[in-house]
Amino acid sequence: MLITFEGIEGSGKSTQISRVVQALSNSGRDVIATVEPGGTELGMNLRSILLDSNTGSLDPLAELFLFSAARSELLFEVIKPAIADGKIVLCDRFVDSTLAYQGYGRGLEIEMVAEINRTVCAGVWPNLTIWLDLPVDVGLNRAIGRLNQNNSIEGRFEKEDVLFHTRVQDGFKSIAKQEPDRVKRVDSCESIENVSSKIIQLVNEAIS
Ligand SMILES: Nc1ncnc2c1ncn2[C@@H]1O[C@H](COP(=O)(O)OP(=O)(O)OP(=O)(O)O)[C@@H](O)[C@H]1O
Ligand SMILES: [Mg+2]
Repeated sequence: MLITFEGIEGSGKSTQISRVVQALSNSGRDVIATVEPGGTELGMNLRSILLDSNTGSLDPLAELFLFSAARSELLFEVIKPAIADGKIVLCDRFVDSTLAYQGYGRGLEIEMVAEINRTVCAGVWPNLTIWLDLPVDVGLNRAIGRLNQNNSIEGRFEKEDVLFHTRVQDGFKSIAKQEPDRVKRVDSCESIENVSSKIIQLVNEAIS
């Protein structure tokens, strides 16, 4: 069982994943949480290149392949073994982020990005995707607040303009429209508690 969490910057993915981990662990489920890009040594190295605001702009195709390389390693080292062990895997960003950011955001051809996603995943696909939806300006303000609070340098995407983030948001919207059975929209404007109770309900339905 693979459950992914998607949405723009600051939509609450990390906040909600830790709550879901807690809820599932409390009910005796074997659950692991991982993050993209990251989760492996290669992934962490690529993360620092991809998210560090000092990296500056990259060729969109180079960016696509770096995210895809991180995912391929994460599938190999972490996700596939965990699924084989019968664990529930929660992943903070996955294929839909690639489609939304590198496809819709950067303007790479959507079908080409989708094909690379399928190739990298080789049959592993999310059973459920929680799309945390909130207005771009609200998300960016939350994300920038959190970056400043943590003194984090992972602001490369937060630096993109509102038009970029609006294209990304439109990307998530059209993915959710195309795959309504897999992708469930959750309104992330509500309180952390309300958002998490909706997510936990969706997760429980998916795993029961
Ligand atoms: N429902 C909510 N209401 C108000 N604030 C929230 C809510 N959810 C999350 N936050 C706050 O917004 C900030 C961003 O949340 P979080 O880090 O979970 O988002 P994210 O989707 O993981 O962002 P990123 O894509 O940058 O990793 C945090 O400071 C968090 O406490
Ligand atoms: Mg996060």
